[in-house]
Amino acid sequence: MPGGAVVLGTSDTNRIEAPVTARTYFMCVFASFGGIFFGYDTGWMGGVLGMPYFINMYTHKPFPANPDAAHLPADFALPAWEKSLMTSILSAGTFFGALIAGDIADLVGRRPTIIAGCIIFSIGCILEVAPKDALACFVIGRLVAGAGVGFISATIILYMSEIAPKKVRGALVSGYQFCITIGILLANCVVYATQNRLDTGSYRIPIAVQFLWALILGTGLLFLPESPRFYVRKGQIDLATEALARVRDQPAESDYVQDELAEIIANLEFEKAHIPQTTYVESWLVCFRGSIYDGSSNLRRTIVGTGLQCAQQFTGINFIFYFGTSFFQTLGTISNPFFISLITTLVNVLSTPASFWMVEHFGRRRILIVGGTCMVICQFIVAIVGTATPHAQTPGGAPAAVKAEIAFICLNIAAFASTWGPAAWVVVGELFPLPIRSRGVGMSTASNWFWNCIIGVITPYLVSTDQANLGPKVFFIWGSTAIFSTLFAYFLVSETKGLSLEQVDQMLVETSPRTSAGWKPTKTWAASEGHVQDDKASEGEKAV
Ligand code: BGC
Repeated sequence: MPGGAVVLGTSDTNRIEAPVTARTYFMCVFASFGGIFFGYDTGWMGGVLGMPYFINMYTHKPFPANPDAAHLPADFALPAWEKSLMTSILSAGTFFGALIAGDIADLVGRRPTIIAGCIIFSIGCILEVAPKDALACFVIGRLVAGAGVGFISATIILYMSEIAPKKVRGALVSGYQFCITIGILLANCVVYATQNRLDTGSYRIPIAVQFLWALILGTGLLFLPESPRFYVRKGQIDLATEALARVRDQPAESDYVQDELAEIIANLEFEKAHIPQTTYVESWLVCFRGSIYDGSSNLRRTIVGTGLQCAQQFTGINFIFYFGTSFFQTLGTISNPFFISLITTLVNVLSTPASFWMVEHFGRRRILIVGGTCMVICQFIVAIVGTATPHAQTPGGAPAAVKAEIAFICLNIAAFASTWGPAAWVVVGELFPLPIRSRGVGMSTASNWFWNCIIGVITPYLVSTDQANLGPKVFFIWGSTAIFSTLFAYFLVSETKGLSLEQVDQMLVETSPRTSAGWKPTKTWAASEGHVQDDKASEGEKAV
């Protein structure tokens, strides 16, 4: 065992965790607030790109006669390359932030890494708002803020998955997704309120609001405990006991705390014996060890984690959130595109809570497959309706067709929000064994941002009227990529609902994705590693 005396556990698979208390809920709910950063920071850019003052500041084109954000002429816009750069640079920052965060979270702890993320993020925001009309500074600021968001987004998932009780872990991590959606909505509301100001407040206010999120999360985290699994990894068993007692709201000497701790330690012992890590480089290389055909190998888990986040982006959801405003403008018949974007983000927020129940009732795997299928259907309908009524895209065209397109776009968002949005994060937090968990979650989060960035870079070219101008046909692309996402979930994602993170490890060894949902734990790690007290062993045996 890493340091200290051996902690003895139980052989009863039902007794390895304390009952859930209000305090446990509260800690996770607070941590999920980190989602606000993610959502808000991705949410404000699209709106700012369509602001008359912002366009004038960067293009120096004279204001049109009616400088109203909802009715700007097509030629009064930022060029595609500038839109693409400003949108995607954030994801570049988050990509590197998420990758580095894994290392830092293992070195100094999950909590300090998130707090460091809040500080880095605030520095980025200052760079974004301080100078006026300085593209380079704005872009660097967005890169730095992105790195902060990368830290926060990767580490929050890690932290929440490690402290949440197994029965409600899916629902609590879905709370993080809920906060992402609230962040996007808030960004849209603030942008909507300031979009027509003809001064720097138009874009500075939406950016500056973000300091508030950093302050709330950074300060709040000072009062939360560190992840007990971090301390176990470090071999600091006393601190792990203390932290576990706090997150489970139980006395440190309680059987619940001791049994759960014994499980975490026994599992870590097993993992370490199988994947020894000697040097720093080795500790990265082990993430890619094992056979691709072995569902429990590190390589396979890394592929599933990073691939699942890629698949989440391939559902095409961010096309709507990043370019919804411009896209609805090209549909022509809508008088207020900003308003429509507000509706789409509201649909996103309101549909997410359904996942709290669905992710625990139906499981992660099933909702990914069903949600993906619904998204494929909705996106093909939008593409077909749009292609069949090309005149719908001219002002006064075919309002019924446009309404149908908007309705199916909203259904598509609802399908994403209740399934792929939360479940992709839930699975990533549960997938990796402790020795490589922070790196695995970091790489998966980085993958999310990488593909997010790719979509940010290419999409303006697909839909800008002076470029490919695909209009609704772009949904043929997203419908097809969503087929890939659904197949990915079917073939590669295992069911992890209701299991402790250590039991997930066992399940992956004993099942395939398609048989995983029926798996039940039969032995504890403490029993397998021989760390069971006699009286606890016999209780466990009696229970079996
Ligand atoms: C995705 C984001 C997306 C958001 C929409 C998240 O789970 O990772 O890319 O913008 O959901 O709600």
